[in-house]
Amino acid sequence: MIGSNVAPTPATGVNASRTTAAAADAARIEIVGLTKRFLTPKGESFTAIRDVTLTVEPGQFCAIVGPTGCGKSTTLAQVSGLDKPSGGSVQVGGHIVDGITAGVSYMFQADSLFPWKTVLQNVMTGPVLLGTPKKEAAALANDWLRRVGLTGFGDRYPHQLSGGMRKRVAMAAALINKPRILLMDEPFGALDVQTKAIMQTELLNLWEESRPSVLFITHDLDEAVALADRVVIMTSSPGTVKNIFDVDLPRPRGDVQEIRHQERFQAIQSRIWDSLRDEVTRAYKRSAEAAA
Ligand SMILES: Nc1ncnc2c1ncn2[C@@H]1O[C@H](COP(=O)(O)OP(=O)(O)OP(=O)(O)O)[C@@H](O)[C@H]1O
Ligand SMILES: [Mg+2]
Repeated sequence: MIGSNVAPTPATGVNASRTTAAAADAARIEIVGLTKRFLTPKGESFTAIRDVTLTVEPGQFCAIVGPTGCGKSTTLAQVSGLDKPSGGSVQVGGHIVDGITAGVSYMFQADSLFPWKTVLQNVMTGPVLLGTPKKEAAALANDWLRRVGLTGFGDRYPHQLSGGMRKRVAMAAALINKPRILLMDEPFGALDVQTKAIMQTELLNLWEESRPSVLFITHDLDEAVALADRVVIMTSSPGTVKNIFDVDLPRPRGDVQEIRHQERFQAIQSRIWDSLRDEVTRAYKRSAEAAA
């Protein structure tokens, strides 16, 4: 009988494993035959991505790499629910994505902080929107600022921070709601090489704590190999999946700067580069011809 006097189920045995399995499934992303067409200003149909099929398993860190304009951001926009596919489907946790999905956080390429809010207010926005009382949300946000090394910066405004610090705030804001899925569109693209490596290491450390499924977009193959379990290479426009590579470097990976010197890293990187090089060359030739 179901009623208020039913004792809570202990988190052990069959029920616990069912709960764990359900939680894991909720973090799966399944993209099947995804196609997106846009109308050009001339009113013609332009196919940005074509028949993209890809699964991100629960807890997996998946990177998508491809030449500029191949449709990486377009793919992510369909997964996030910010845009609607022209064909095919995206499922998150077994449900077709239709609008913004609970439990999914998005970290954009450009700074996506509210410029009129302090650092603390930016980070606490997520919990407040979910109904957490302000005092509690502020305490949680302060704890996240500590985790990303920004203790004492809560009362600053975004323009008073360096680019790397702003990325830390964005990372705290993306992770504070404990997303089961994290979508990242070239989050560190605009940073200098050293800051980028520090941010990558910090991201991996934070990711290890709760292991959300990650779909991470980048131009940078080294970044993809250092961070991801799988690297997906997209073809030049219209983008589709060309190859998928498993990256079996052990975890936790530690310092991203050091991974790059490992022989195993270099072997994997060079194998994937063979696949990516043709697409980059093709995209470059096409844009050079268009400019001529
Ligand atoms: N809203 C839109 N309307 C028309 N065309 C669009 C729109 N959004 C994207 N496109 C086109 O779709 C193609 C793919 O764009 P997208 O931004 O997904 O590429 P990308 O792989 O993310 O590139 P980059 O690496 O430079 O960020 C491009 O040719 C772009 O001009
Ligand atoms: Mg993009």
